[in-house]
Amino acid sequence: MKRTITTVRHALSGIASFIPGVKRYTPKGTGGTDSARYCYSVWLRHLAMAETNGLNTYPRVVAELGPGDSLGIGLAALISGVDKYFAFDIVEHADTERNLQIFEELVSLFRNRVDVPREDEFPNLKPYLETYKFPRRILMDDRLSRALEDDRIERIKNSIRDRNYHNPVLEYRVPWFDPLVIGERSVDMIYSQAVLEHVDDLSNTYRAMHSWLKPGGYISHMIDFKCHKTADEWNGHWTYSDLTWKLIRGKRSYLLNREPHSTHLKLLLEEGFKVVCDQTIKSKSPITKRSLSGRFRNMSDEDLTTTDAFIQAIKE
Ligand SMILES: C[S@@+](CC[C@H](N)C(=O)[O-])C[C@H]1O[C@@H](n2cnc3c(N)ncnc32)[C@H](O)[C@@H]1O
Repeated sequence: MKRTITTVRHALSGIASFIPGVKRYTPKGTGGTDSARYCYSVWLRHLAMAETNGLNTYPRVVAELGPGDSLGIGLAALISGVDKYFAFDIVEHADTERNLQIFEELVSLFRNRVDVPREDEFPNLKPYLETYKFPRRILMDDRLSRALEDDRIERIKNSIRDRNYHNPVLEYRVPWFDPLVIGERSVDMIYSQAVLEHVDDLSNTYRAMHSWLKPGGYISHMIDFKCHKTADEWNGHWTYSDLTWKLIRGKRSYLLNREPHSTHLKLLLEEGFKVVCDQTIKSKSPITKRSLSGRFRNMSDEDLTTTDAFIQAIKE
């Protein structure tokens, strides 16, 4: 009975979204990327992990899935020397004013070689690093001084200011669903932060990423498997039937695909990626296996207790 009441409570806003005019269906604000320090921290973490795993730390062309409130993580990539940044979202959350403001703050963070903001500032931000010192071994002085030259910074800023999101430095595509948005074998690195748990068509998305990458290119994804406030327990979203989940989602443009960690690994292998890093975070399961709904009933203990995963994988 208690579980039924809880389920109805969580489903109410989704159900209400089916009534015309009752509610905004697109979430207002996505969380992290409205802060320059968050964007700076995320970009440097993906780069630091690339170094740890022997991957290219000087990618020339990068693509991001789900940048959210600003293009800040990709702007951090551009400021640190990347030549071209593609951003793909399904909702146009980012706007020019915010991008410009975040850009200015990012330039100052890089010019001052500020250390990577850590858990005391962003307690939910992962992956964790061994050291949060500014990564001078990756962003060496000559690389960074070239990247930070005034002319170059002005050029990037103009490409944001012009509101022209199809320019040689920056492309922002919303929605992006056609895999042909980028040519095959044209990108060195594709990353996302807290996005792949939201993507509805995971299989085709992994396929698209594989085709966009150059041979030797890699993906770098932080994935959060928790319920995102759709249940009382962190993994309670796996107790809902597909029908209940439909009601909870309502008409939102995205919510969660509810796929556990092992699904991502399976799809990666199917597409021909070689996984070089699979760093997981675990937490005890507050729910029993018996309370899992139909299609999750055979979930492994590994999946049931994996709250987050940071995955890097190469296209060989
Ligand atoms: C929780 S937000 C994360 C935003 C940002 N990466 C951050 O770290 O703050 C999830 C983002 O994923 C986007 N998203 C959802 N489904 C997507 C899809 N199929 N392709 C690309 N982006 C998607 C959402 O629009 C949103 O921008």
